[in-house]
Formats: sequence, C-alpha cells, structure tokens
Amino acid sequence: MKILLLVSAFNGLTQRVYAELKQRDHWVSVEYACTKQQMEEAVTLCKPDLIICPFLKQAIPSSIWQRYLCWIVHPGIKGDRGPSALDWAIQRQLSWWGVTLVEAATDYDAGSIVGSKEFRLPATNKSTVYRHQVTEAAVELILAAIDQLQNKSYKSDPLDYSKPDVKGSWQPLMKQSQRKIDWQQDTTEKILAKLHAAESFPGVKDSINGRTYYLYNGYQEKKLLTNSNVLPGDIIAKKNQAVCRATRDGAVWITHLKQANMVEPQIKLPATAYLTDYLQQTPELFDHELPSYDPTTWQEIYYEENDHVGYLYFNFYNGAMSTEQCYRLLKAYKKAVTRPTRVLVLMGGSDFWSNGINLNTIEASSDSGLEAWENLKQINDLVEEITTTVNKVTVAALKENAAAGGVMLALACDIILIRDGVVLSPYYQHMGLYGSEYWSFNLPRRVGERHASQLMANCLPVLAAEAVSIGLADEILPAQEKVFLSSLAKVCTWYSHKKTTERLVLRKQRIYQLNQQLKPLRQYREEEERKMWQCFMSADSDFHQARKRFVYKSPLITTPTYLAIHRQAVKYWEEKPHIIKRMACL
Ligand code: COA
Repeated sequence: MKILLLVSAFNGLTQRVYAELKQRDHWVSVEYACTKQQMEEAVTLCKPDLIICPFLKQAIPSSIWQRYLCWIVHPGIKGDRGPSALDWAIQRQLSWWGVTLVEAATDYDAGSIVGSKEFRLPATNKSTVYRHQVTEAAVELILAAIDQLQNKSYKSDPLDYSKPDVKGSWQPLMKQSQRKIDWQQDTTEKILAKLHAAESFPGVKDSINGRTYYLYNGYQEKKLLTNSNVLPGDIIAKKNQAVCRATRDGAVWITHLKQANMVEPQIKLPATAYLTDYLQQTPELFDHELPSYDPTTWQEIYYEENDHVGYLYFNFYNGAMSTEQCYRLLKAYKKAVTRPTRVLVLMGGSDFWSNGINLNTIEASSDSGLEAWENLKQINDLVEEITTTVNKVTVAALKENAAAGGVMLALACDIILIRDGVVLSPYYQHMGLYGSEYWSFNLPRRVGERHASQLMANCLPVLAAEAVSIGLADEILPAQEKVFLSSLAKVCTWYSHKKTTERLVLRKQRIYQLNQQLKPLRQYREEEERKMWQCFMSADSDFHQARKRFVYKSPLITTPTYLAIHRQAVKYWEEKPHIIKRMACL
C-alpha cells in the first residue's frame, strides 16, 4: 500500500511504525505536520491509500480526512480524548490503560474506532510507558488494521459512550497547578506519580532555593533516613549529579532539572549543574566502582552475575552519555572484566541502550566544541577497552533502541543480541558529525563497505530483523521483556561454556592480530578523531547548529527529503525529468 505518515516529529513510535511498514514492503513516506498548507500539499503530491498519524499534536485539516482514510494513534482507552491522556492515567495511578486507533474526525480523538488494546500500566515514567506499552500496542493495532484493509474486512465503530466497553471520556490539558507537589502533604508515592506523569515533557514546576525549575526523572530512595531537622522538600544528599529530596515519609532522587520562567530557552541538565553553589554543604554519596543491584535506591550503573556471566547495566537518562558518565562506565567495565566470568553482557538502560555522547551537557558547557571533544575521547576509550577485551566474550544486549555512537558502542562487542522491535539509528549525519566510536572499523567489518556507507548516508531507522539480516546484529530475541531476559540468559550461558568461550576468544585474538597488521586499530581512531575535531572546532561545521536545534527542540519547518519520498519525486522531476519517468515504471 501507499502510506503517508503525517506526524509532529519522526519520534520513536513513528520510526518503529515506519520500519515495520517498510519491512512489509509498503511504500512509506513521511510529512511533518508543520502547516495546513504543507499537509495539503503533501497529500496532493503523495495521493496515499492510507494516512497514519502515530504521533500528531495538531488537527488534520478536514480537506484531508474527508477525502482520505486517516488513522490517529491515541494513547488512551476507548472513549478517552484529549492531549494529556497518559499524564492523567499515570498521575491517577491507574493499573490499566490502553491505546486506541481512531479515524480522524472534526473533533479531537472523536472519530470512529478502528481498534483498541489495553495493557497493565506500570508505576513508571510516562516516556517509558510510551516507548514500551504504547508503542507495542500501537504497532499491533496498525498492522492488524492494515491486514483488515487488505483482506477487505476493515470496519470501524463510531464512538458511542453508551457502549459498556467505551469507558473513557474527555480529559483536559493537565496544568502545572494540577501537577504541583505539596511537599508537606504528598506522600513519596504521590510525588513519584506526579513526576512520572510529567516526565520528558513538561516536568513538574517547583522551586529550589528561591528559583523555579522543572523537575524530571524521579526515583524512590528507601535507605537514606531523614531527621527532625529536615523539612519535606529539603535536599539531603547528592550523587552522580542528582539530588535527593526529603519527603513527608521518605525521600526521592531527582536526576534532572530545567530552569523555568526564563526568557531564553533552557535545556534539561543533571540537577547539580543548576545548583552548584547551593549544594556546597550537601553530603555527597558515591557508588562503588561496580555496585550490585540495589532496589532501595537510584543507580545509574550496576552489575549482576549468574552462571559465569556478568551483566553490566548503564541506565543513563535518555541514553545520553556525558564525559563523566563514560568515565564511570569505563571504570565499571574495567572492574567487571576482572571478575571470574567468561561472558560480559552490556545491558544498557531501561529506555534506551545508548544514544552516544550527551548533547545537552555539551551544549551547556562554556566551550561546547572542547566539551564535545572530551566526551568523544572518553566514549572512544570505552569502545577501545571493549574492542580489545581478550579474556572474555563480550555481548551487547540491545533490549532498547540505540542511536549514533550508541549503536557503534554496541558494535564493539563480539556478539550483538537484539530484542524484536528494537530500532537502531546507525548514523550521525543528522547531527552534522562524521562519526567516531570506531565505526569505520566495526561497521564495514560487520555489514560490508556498501551497506556501511548506505546506513551512514540514508539516516533511516533499522528494525531488529533487518539489523540481523544485514549483519548489524547476530540474533533476534523475543520482544516480551521477561522472555527476552530469560532467552538472553540462556544464550549467554551457552557462550559461557568453557570450550565455546575459548573458541570465540581465540577467534577474536586472531582477527585482532590480523587487523593490527593490515591497519592498526589506533589508526581508525586517529582518522575518525581528526575529522571529528573539524566538526567540533570549525566555525562553519553543521554540528553546532544541528545540536542547538536538537537540544532546544526548535520547531520543525520542513520535512527532510530523505523521509518525504513524495517530495523527492517532485524535486527530481524539476531537476531530472528522466528519473521520475523511471520511478513511475517501478
Ligand atoms: N544527548 C542528549 N539528549 C539526548 C540524546 C543525546 N545524545 N539522544 C536523545 N536525547 C534526548 C532527547 O533530547 C529527548 O529528551 P527529552 O527528555 O527532552 O524528551 C529524549 O532523549 C528522547 O529523544 P527523542 O529524540 O525525543 O526520542 P526519539 O525516540 O524520537 O529519537 C534518537 C531517538 C536517538 C534517534 C534521537 O533522540 C537522536 O537522534 N538523538 C541524538 C543521537 C546523536 O546524535 N548522538 C550524538 C552523536 S554520538
């Protein structure tokens, strides 16, 4: 089918839908819903069989939905409507929620229902729920409805609140006054629910030391004891750039802040970055280099061991790895390598496996070019350490999406296992970067020169199944989290059998020695870093502009032509009439 994705951004869900549709050989094009005129123009150019809106914040013009079948993904149960669907469900601590696929209509989310799916709502961040439960349900609904369209069994049900299974209702935009934390009254559980509901955007507005901030990413602290001198809301500790605040009945960690009420746009930063002077007397806690999992507190890095297999977790916010985080991870990795295990598995985080260097902390630095350089060298040290580990088999367990340097970090491992449905973005060009993390060594080695340059140039998402088929990953494991983890344990235990480990390690040593003779590993790094220095330091480099657009979330004004296939055709036609003729024959 010819499908147009009309979206507010090419976000994670849209990338997944895009890749799933392409995998099923549909013709897929994307248009950012920037203006009414652009949307109408896109539809006229594309003439799609179907329009899907996995993530759309504005209304579709009636001129479009009256002529074309348009499906909208709404992250709510049947009958739920409004812009804060997940926020309300999470803040109310509901135990079940859902996703509904509706046809576009005059009123928001009020069109006929194409399908709906419910799921158990975990007590966690909105962005985590969106990236997992919502994404899985939305993809399932879309694919099922397309099947129905193709086998002519498609039907949709008008929204009818008298039906017993239509339990939702209109919910207004959630305001900051409804999100506000009452530190005197709210329990830890309630505070966490408020933080979870506001996660990613907009955050919970609150004041610290007379200044107003948005708070992000809260975790419960169960060990730290408060005393009678401490008031709810007081900061009682700091650790790894996060702050711990006392509550009426315990404490919570808040890892990130963004300054509010400012004229200039602000970015999210590790909490202590905004509070350096204020926190000088605050006790600082330090994790061990390789801490075990501790469910009573917030941890970024932790380690578990089972059956000769070590599992190293690095749950960095948004998968972004700053200089300091890379340094700590490298130290933990070095320590993990000394453990008496045969296999070391890199587990990544709970939302992303890794998204490479941290663009926010780079932006916040007084010398962004230099900070980017430091961050790059630190992540490269980590990649080098993994690539040259010869006493164990290293495994990247891609349970979550990864992008840019994060994908290349995974490629440093001997074995790459990927969860079904995971989306990889193995490219840097969108950020104006040549790329590093030894991609020029590891990527062609895995997928061949031709695929490597295509992946880097196309800037398109790669779904797990495709990743395995081109050699970017080795094996696909089931999507369901529990099944993924048990399959992972089984596969890794198999790799940990003495003979298997010895064979793999020997093979790795041979490949490494051979490569050293052909072109030493250092040379790849030097070549990449020379080019990256240019990207970071030269005044006319695209990196600084691209980074600013990304971190300040500048409004999109046009769809890039690599996504808007319908516009590519026009561009080619204007420039090269013969190409469009050839495309028409396909
Ligand atoms: N540094 C800092 N923040 C990052 C980041 C990075 N490298 N990668 C992602 N993020 C943040 C985003 O700003 C966003 O923050 P939010 O909490 O304010 O929402 C959050 O992670 C999710 O990213 P978003 O872009 O909304 O998610 P997505 O699923 O639509 O797209 C990516 C995911 C990874 C494809 C996209 O975020 C991306 O391109 N990241 C940059 C990767 C990169 O260029 N890294 C540097 C070179 S190694």
